Amino acid sequence: MNKLTSQLSLLEIEESLEAKISNYQVSKPLGFGTQIAPVMAKAVYEDGKWGPLEMTACEAFDIHPAMKAFHYGQQIFEGMKAYRAKGKGPFLFRADQHAKRFNMSAERMAMPSIPEDTFLEAVTNVVYRLKEHVPQEDGESLYLRPLMLATETGLHLSPSTSYLFLAMASPSATYFSPGKVSALIERTDARAAPGGTGAVKAAGNYGGSIRSSIKAKDLGYQQTLWLDAVNKKNIEEFSGMNFFACINNKLLTPELNSSILPGITRSSVLKIAESFDVECKEQDINIDELVEAIKSEQCTEIFACGTAAVISPISSLGEKDGTKYELSYKHEDLLWKRIREELVGIQLGDRDDPYSWRSLVSF
Ligand code: COI
Repeated sequence: MNKLTSQLSLLEIEESLEAKISNYQVSKPLGFGTQIAPVMAKAVYEDGKWGPLEMTACEAFDIHPAMKAFHYGQQIFEGMKAYRAKGKGPFLFRADQHAKRFNMSAERMAMPSIPEDTFLEAVTNVVYRLKEHVPQEDGESLYLRPLMLATETGLHLSPSTSYLFLAMASPSATYFSPGKVSALIERTDARAAPGGTGAVKAAGNYGGSIRSSIKAKDLGYQQTLWLDAVNKKNIEEFSGMNFFACINNKLLTPELNSSILPGITRSSVLKIAESFDVECKEQDINIDELVEAIKSEQCTEIFACGTAAVISPISSLGEKDGTKYELSYKHEDLLWKRIREELVGIQLGDRDDPYSWRSLVSF
Protein backbone atom coordinates (compact mmCIF):
# COMPACT_ATOMS: atom_id res chain seq x y z
CA MET A 1 0.00 0.00 0.00
CA ASN A 2 1.51 3.37 -0.91
CA LYS A 3 1.41 6.30 1.52
CA LEU A 4 -1.54 8.03 -0.13
CA THR A 5 -3.65 4.83 -0.24
CA SER A 6 -2.89 4.07 3.41
CA GLN A 7 -3.81 7.66 4.40
CA LEU A 8 -7.06 7.31 2.45
CA SER A 9 -7.95 4.04 4.15
CA LEU A 10 -7.18 5.55 7.58
CA LEU A 11 -9.55 8.37 6.69
CA GLU A 12 -12.24 5.85 5.73
CA ILE A 13 -11.80 3.95 9.01
CA GLU A 14 -12.04 7.22 10.91
CA GLU A 15 -15.22 8.23 9.04
CA SER A 16 -16.82 4.87 9.65
CA LEU A 17 -16.00 5.07 13.39
CA GLU A 18 -17.42 8.58 13.59
CA ALA A 19 -20.59 7.38 11.86
CA LYS A 20 -20.93 4.47 14.31
CA ILE A 21 -20.51 6.84 17.24
CA SER A 22 -23.00 9.41 15.99
CA ASN A 23 -25.60 6.72 15.19
CA TYR A 24 -25.10 5.02 18.55
CA GLN A 25 -28.00 5.24 20.96
CA VAL A 26 -28.16 3.88 24.46
CA SER A 27 -31.48 2.56 25.59
CA LYS A 28 -32.94 2.89 29.06
CA PRO A 29 -32.93 1.27 31.54
CA LEU A 30 -29.18 1.08 31.17
CA GLY A 31 -28.35 -1.87 33.40
CA PHE A 32 -24.72 -2.66 34.15
CA GLY A 33 -22.41 -3.74 31.34
CA THR A 34 -25.21 -4.84 29.04
CA GLN A 35 -24.84 -2.16 26.36
CA ILE A 36 -21.48 -2.19 24.68
CA ALA A 37 -20.25 0.98 22.95
CA PRO A 38 -19.41 0.68 19.24
CA VAL A 39 -15.71 1.65 19.43
CA MET A 40 -12.70 0.36 21.30
CA ALA A 41 -8.94 0.74 21.39
CA LYS A 42 -6.73 -2.15 20.33
CA ALA A 43 -3.04 -3.07 20.28
CA VAL A 44 -1.33 -6.30 19.27
CA TYR A 45 1.76 -7.79 20.93
CA GLU A 46 3.95 -9.85 18.61
CA ASP A 47 7.66 -10.61 18.25
CA GLY A 48 8.35 -9.31 21.73
CA LYS A 49 6.80 -5.87 21.30
CA TRP A 50 3.56 -3.94 21.22
CA GLY A 51 2.35 -2.60 17.89
CA PRO A 52 0.59 0.76 17.54
CA LEU A 53 -2.61 1.54 19.40
CA GLU A 54 -5.57 1.77 17.02
CA MET A 55 -9.18 2.84 17.41
CA THR A 56 -11.50 0.31 15.87
CA ALA A 57 -15.12 -0.84 15.80
CA CYS A 58 -16.11 -2.95 18.80
CA GLU A 59 -17.62 -5.88 16.99
CA ALA A 60 -17.18 -9.62 16.55
CA PHE A 61 -13.88 -10.76 15.06
CA ASP A 62 -12.34 -14.07 14.01
CA ILE A 63 -10.66 -16.08 16.73
CA HIS A 64 -9.04 -19.48 16.31
CA PRO A 65 -10.49 -22.14 18.67
CA ALA A 66 -6.95 -23.09 19.73
CA MET A 67 -6.22 -19.59 21.05
CA LYS A 68 -4.38 -20.06 24.35
CA ALA A 69 -6.60 -17.72 26.34
CA PHE A 70 -9.47 -20.18 25.76
CA HIS A 71 -7.54 -23.16 27.03
CA TYR A 72 -5.26 -21.94 29.79
CA GLY A 73 -6.88 -18.71 30.92
CA GLN A 74 -4.09 -16.20 30.27
CA GLN A 75 -6.60 -13.39 30.46
CA ILE A 76 -6.69 -10.26 32.61
CA PHE A 77 -8.89 -7.19 32.84
CA GLU A 78 -9.52 -3.90 34.60
CA GLY A 79 -12.73 -2.11 35.51
CA MET A 80 -12.75 1.68 35.61
CA LYS A 81 -15.24 4.48 35.06
CA ALA A 82 -15.60 7.83 33.31
CA TYR A 83 -18.09 10.28 34.81
CA ARG A 84 -20.01 13.18 33.42
CA ALA A 85 -22.59 14.91 35.54
CA LYS A 86 -24.13 18.37 35.40
CA GLY A 87 -22.15 19.25 32.28
CA LYS A 88 -18.78 18.60 33.95
CA GLY A 89 -16.08 16.19 32.78
CA PRO A 90 -15.71 13.64 31.40
CA PHE A 91 -13.49 12.66 34.31
CA LEU A 92 -11.50 9.50 34.89
CA PHE A 93 -10.84 8.36 38.45
CA ARG A 94 -7.34 7.20 39.47
CA ALA A 95 -6.63 5.98 35.95
CA ASP A 96 -2.90 5.75 36.71
CA GLN A 97 -3.62 3.23 39.48
CA HIS A 98 -5.67 1.09 37.10
CA ALA A 99 -2.78 1.12 34.61
CA LYS A 100 -0.39 -0.01 37.35
CA ARG A 101 -2.71 -2.75 38.58
CA PHE A 102 -3.23 -3.99 35.01
CA ASN A 103 0.50 -4.54 34.77
CA MET A 104 0.56 -6.28 38.17
CA SER A 105 -2.07 -8.66 36.78
CA ALA A 106 0.00 -9.12 33.61
CA GLU A 107 3.11 -9.92 35.64
CA ARG A 108 1.29 -12.56 37.75
CA MET A 109 -0.16 -14.20 34.64
CA ALA A 110 3.20 -14.19 32.80
CA MET A 111 1.85 -11.77 30.20
CA PRO A 112 3.72 -8.77 28.79
CA SER A 113 3.29 -5.44 30.53
CA ILE A 114 1.87 -2.63 28.47
CA PRO A 115 3.40 0.85 28.76
CA GLU A 116 1.25 2.86 31.20
CA ASP A 117 1.08 5.68 28.64
CA THR A 118 -0.40 3.29 26.06
CA PHE A 119 -2.99 2.03 28.55
CA LEU A 120 -3.91 5.61 29.50
CA GLU A 121 -4.04 6.77 25.89
CA ALA A 122 -6.38 3.86 25.08
CA VAL A 123 -8.92 4.63 27.80
CA THR A 124 -8.66 8.38 27.29
CA ASN A 125 -9.25 8.06 23.55
CA VAL A 126 -12.26 5.78 24.08
CA VAL A 127 -13.80 8.17 26.62
CA TYR A 128 -13.10 11.22 24.48
CA ARG A 129 -14.79 9.72 21.44
CA LEU A 130 -17.75 8.55 23.49
CA LYS A 131 -18.04 11.75 25.51
CA GLU A 132 -21.58 12.39 24.24
CA HIS A 133 -22.57 8.89 25.37
CA VAL A 134 -21.35 9.06 28.95
CA PRO A 135 -24.63 8.74 30.84
CA GLN A 136 -25.17 11.51 33.35
CA GLU A 137 -27.84 10.45 35.80
CA ASP A 138 -27.30 9.49 39.40
CA GLY A 139 -24.98 6.48 39.66
CA GLU A 140 -24.41 6.29 35.90
CA SER A 141 -21.04 6.26 34.16
CA LEU A 142 -19.17 4.99 31.14
CA TYR A 143 -17.77 1.73 32.51
CA LEU A 144 -14.43 0.94 30.87
CA ARG A 145 -13.14 -2.55 30.42
CA PRO A 146 -9.47 -2.81 29.37
CA LEU A 147 -8.43 -6.44 28.87
CA MET A 148 -5.60 -8.57 27.56
CA LEU A 149 -5.78 -12.05 26.07
CA ALA A 150 -3.25 -14.65 24.96
CA THR A 151 -3.82 -15.12 21.23
CA GLU A 152 -1.24 -17.67 20.16
CA THR A 153 -2.84 -20.83 18.81
CA GLY A 154 -1.66 -24.12 20.22
CA LEU A 155 -2.29 -26.52 23.06
CA HIS A 156 1.12 -26.55 24.67
CA LEU A 157 0.96 -25.16 28.22
CA SER A 158 3.47 -22.37 27.83
CA PRO A 159 3.20 -18.60 27.72
CA SER A 160 1.64 -17.28 24.57
CA THR A 161 3.93 -15.37 22.24
CA SER A 162 1.15 -13.04 21.07
CA TYR A 163 -1.44 -11.01 22.93
CA LEU A 164 -4.30 -8.66 22.22
CA PHE A 165 -4.98 -5.58 24.34
CA LEU A 166 -8.45 -4.09 24.05
CA ALA A 167 -10.18 -1.23 25.86
CA MET A 168 -13.93 -1.32 25.44
CA ALA A 169 -16.72 0.64 27.10
CA SER A 170 -20.27 0.24 28.33
CA PRO A 171 -22.60 3.09 29.33
CA SER A 172 -23.86 1.71 32.63
CA ALA A 173 -25.97 2.29 35.69
CA THR A 174 -24.94 1.17 39.17
CA TYR A 175 -23.92 -2.46 39.65
CA PHE A 176 -26.48 -3.09 42.39
CA SER A 177 -29.93 -1.57 42.36
CA PRO A 178 -30.30 0.86 45.27
CA GLY A 179 -30.86 -0.74 48.66
CA LYS A 180 -28.84 -3.08 50.78
CA VAL A 181 -27.45 -6.44 49.72
CA SER A 182 -27.37 -9.69 51.65
CA ALA A 183 -24.65 -12.33 51.47
CA LEU A 184 -24.16 -16.01 52.09
CA ILE A 185 -21.09 -16.79 54.20
CA GLU A 186 -19.37 -19.25 51.85
CA ARG A 187 -17.98 -22.01 54.04
CA THR A 188 -17.19 -24.55 51.30
CA ASP A 189 -15.86 -23.05 48.07
CA ALA A 190 -12.88 -20.67 48.10
CA ARG A 191 -12.34 -17.72 45.79
CA ALA A 192 -8.54 -17.69 45.88
CA ALA A 193 -5.74 -19.43 47.74
CA PRO A 194 -2.48 -18.07 49.17
CA GLY A 195 0.05 -17.70 46.37
CA GLY A 196 -2.66 -17.98 43.72
CA THR A 197 -4.07 -15.26 41.50
CA GLY A 198 -6.61 -13.68 43.87
CA ALA A 199 -4.65 -10.44 44.26
CA VAL A 200 -4.90 -9.62 40.55
CA LYS A 201 -7.69 -9.29 38.04
CA ALA A 202 -7.29 -12.65 36.32
CA ALA A 203 -10.53 -13.59 34.55
CA GLY A 204 -10.54 -17.09 36.09
CA ASN A 205 -10.93 -15.67 39.63
CA TYR A 206 -14.32 -14.40 38.60
CA GLY A 207 -15.34 -17.52 36.67
CA GLY A 208 -14.55 -19.64 39.71
CA SER A 209 -16.89 -17.55 41.87
CA ILE A 210 -20.02 -18.04 39.76
CA ARG A 211 -21.05 -21.40 41.21
CA SER A 212 -21.18 -19.88 44.68
CA SER A 213 -23.16 -16.85 43.50
CA ILE A 214 -25.78 -19.22 42.04
CA LYS A 215 -25.91 -21.12 45.35
CA ALA A 216 -26.27 -17.82 47.24
CA LYS A 217 -29.19 -16.76 45.02
CA ASP A 218 -30.89 -20.15 45.34
CA LEU A 219 -30.71 -19.74 49.11
CA GLY A 220 -32.22 -16.25 48.95
CA TYR A 221 -29.02 -14.16 49.24
CA GLN A 222 -27.66 -11.82 46.59
CA GLN A 223 -23.92 -12.29 46.93
CA THR A 224 -21.15 -14.41 48.42
CA LEU A 225 -18.93 -13.50 51.36
CA TRP A 226 -15.58 -15.21 50.81
CA LEU A 227 -13.44 -16.58 53.63
CA ASP A 228 -9.75 -17.47 53.49
CA ALA A 229 -9.16 -20.70 51.58
CA VAL A 230 -7.02 -22.43 54.23
CA ASN A 231 -8.90 -22.14 57.54
CA LYS A 232 -12.22 -20.64 56.35
CA LYS A 233 -12.02 -18.24 59.29
CA ASN A 234 -11.09 -14.80 58.06
CA ILE A 235 -13.07 -12.66 55.65
CA GLU A 236 -11.33 -12.00 52.34
CA GLU A 237 -13.72 -10.45 49.83
CA PHE A 238 -17.38 -9.78 49.21
CA SER A 239 -18.29 -11.21 45.80
CA GLY A 240 -15.81 -9.41 43.47
CA MET A 241 -15.38 -6.50 45.90
CA ASN A 242 -13.48 -5.53 49.04
CA PHE A 243 -15.12 -5.71 52.46
CA PHE A 244 -15.36 -3.22 55.34
CA ALA A 245 -16.91 -3.44 58.81
CA CYS A 246 -17.41 -0.64 61.31
CA ILE A 247 -17.01 -2.05 64.84
CA ASN A 248 -16.93 0.15 67.95
CA ASN A 249 -16.43 3.18 65.69
CA LYS A 250 -13.33 1.66 64.06
CA LEU A 251 -13.30 0.93 60.36
CA LEU A 252 -11.81 -2.49 59.64
CA THR A 253 -10.91 -4.12 56.35
CA PRO A 254 -8.99 -7.34 55.68
CA GLU A 255 -5.26 -6.74 55.37
CA LEU A 256 -4.05 -7.31 51.81
CA ASN A 257 -2.41 -10.64 51.08
CA SER A 258 -1.77 -12.78 48.00
CA SER A 259 -5.46 -13.67 47.70
CA ILE A 260 -7.13 -10.25 48.16
CA LEU A 261 -7.40 -7.72 45.35
CA PRO A 262 -5.83 -4.35 46.23
CA GLY A 263 -8.96 -2.40 45.35
CA ILE A 264 -8.57 1.17 44.15
CA THR A 265 -11.91 2.02 45.74
CA ARG A 266 -10.69 0.24 48.90
CA SER A 267 -7.63 2.47 49.14
CA SER A 268 -9.78 5.56 48.42
CA VAL A 269 -12.23 4.58 51.18
CA LEU A 270 -9.37 4.26 53.68
CA LYS A 271 -7.97 7.67 52.71
CA ILE A 272 -11.35 9.38 52.98
CA ALA A 273 -12.19 7.70 56.31
CA GLU A 274 -8.83 8.82 57.72
CA SER A 275 -9.56 12.37 56.55
CA PHE A 276 -12.76 12.14 58.67
CA ASP A 277 -10.57 11.19 61.65
CA VAL A 278 -12.02 7.70 61.71
CA GLU A 279 -9.63 5.11 63.08
CA CYS A 280 -8.94 2.58 60.29
CA LYS A 281 -7.30 -0.82 60.64
CA GLU A 282 -6.25 -3.32 57.99
CA GLN A 283 -6.34 -6.61 59.87
CA ASP A 284 -7.78 -10.12 59.92
CA ILE A 285 -11.55 -10.11 60.44
CA ASN A 286 -12.61 -13.42 61.92
CA ILE A 287 -16.09 -14.38 60.72
CA ASP A 288 -17.23 -15.75 64.10
CA GLU A 289 -16.11 -12.59 65.86
CA LEU A 290 -17.85 -10.47 63.26
CA VAL A 291 -21.09 -12.40 63.72
CA GLU A 292 -20.87 -11.85 67.50
CA ALA A 293 -20.22 -8.13 66.95
CA ILE A 294 -23.28 -7.92 64.67
CA LYS A 295 -25.43 -9.71 67.25
CA SER A 296 -24.24 -7.43 70.07
CA GLU A 297 -24.65 -4.37 67.80
CA GLN A 298 -21.02 -3.38 68.30
CA CYS A 299 -20.78 -3.80 64.55
CA THR A 300 -22.94 -1.04 63.19
CA GLU A 301 -22.22 -1.16 59.47
CA ILE A 302 -20.73 -3.50 56.92
CA PHE A 303 -20.22 -2.58 53.31
CA ALA A 304 -18.61 -3.70 50.08
CA CYS A 305 -16.70 -1.48 47.72
CA GLY A 306 -15.33 -1.71 44.22
CA THR A 307 -15.25 0.26 41.00
CA ALA A 308 -18.49 -1.17 39.65
CA ALA A 309 -20.49 -1.12 42.89
CA VAL A 310 -18.81 1.99 44.43
CA ILE A 311 -19.93 1.50 48.08
CA SER A 312 -22.83 -0.80 48.88
CA PRO A 313 -24.11 -1.37 52.39
CA ILE A 314 -24.77 -4.99 53.35
CA SER A 315 -28.02 -5.66 55.16
CA SER A 316 -27.28 -9.15 56.43
CA LEU A 317 -24.95 -12.12 56.37
CA GLY A 318 -26.27 -15.63 56.60
CA GLU A 319 -25.64 -19.35 56.58
CA LYS A 320 -26.83 -21.98 54.17
CA ASP A 321 -29.30 -23.27 56.80
CA GLY A 322 -31.08 -19.89 56.65
CA THR A 323 -29.68 -18.40 59.90
CA LYS A 324 -29.31 -14.66 59.30
CA TYR A 325 -27.32 -11.97 61.08
CA GLU A 326 -29.05 -8.68 60.35
CA LEU A 327 -27.61 -5.19 60.82
CA SER A 328 -29.99 -2.58 62.14
CA TYR A 329 -28.42 0.57 60.60
CA LYS A 330 -30.38 2.49 63.17
CA HIS A 331 -27.95 5.28 64.02
CA GLU A 332 -28.06 8.46 61.97
CA ASP A 333 -24.53 9.35 60.98
CA LEU A 334 -23.73 6.33 58.81
CA LEU A 335 -20.09 6.18 57.82
CA TRP A 336 -20.65 4.37 54.51
CA LYS A 337 -22.93 7.23 53.41
CA ARG A 338 -20.48 9.98 54.36
CA ILE A 339 -17.62 8.18 52.63
CA ARG A 340 -19.69 7.51 49.52
CA GLU A 341 -20.82 11.14 49.30
CA GLU A 342 -17.23 12.34 49.46
CA LEU A 343 -15.97 9.72 47.01
CA VAL A 344 -18.72 10.29 44.46
CA GLY A 345 -18.37 14.07 44.92
CA ILE A 346 -14.69 13.80 43.98
CA GLN A 347 -15.42 11.44 41.07
CA LEU A 348 -18.08 13.73 39.56
CA GLY A 349 -16.19 16.99 40.08
CA ASP A 350 -18.61 18.29 42.75
CA ARG A 351 -16.04 18.33 45.53
CA ASP A 352 -12.41 19.37 45.89
CA ASP A 353 -9.94 16.69 44.91
CA PRO A 354 -7.18 16.96 47.54
CA TYR A 355 -5.51 13.76 46.36
CA SER A 356 -5.50 14.57 42.62
CA TRP A 357 -7.50 11.43 41.86
CA ARG A 358 -9.62 12.97 39.14
CA SER A 359 -8.42 13.70 35.60
CA LEU A 360 -10.29 15.59 32.93
CA VAL A 361 -10.39 13.78 29.62
CA SER A 362 -9.22 15.95 26.75
CA PHE A 363 -7.37 14.79 23.69
C1 COI B 1 -15.27 -3.86 39.12
O1 COI B 1 -15.64 -3.49 40.23
O2 COI B 1 -15.02 -3.07 38.20
C2 COI B 1 -15.07 -5.27 38.85
O3 COI B 1 -14.18 -5.59 38.14
C3 COI B 1 -15.99 -6.27 39.40
C4 COI B 1 -16.73 -6.97 38.32
C5 COI B 1 -17.38 -8.16 38.93
C6 COI B 1 -17.77 -6.10 37.68
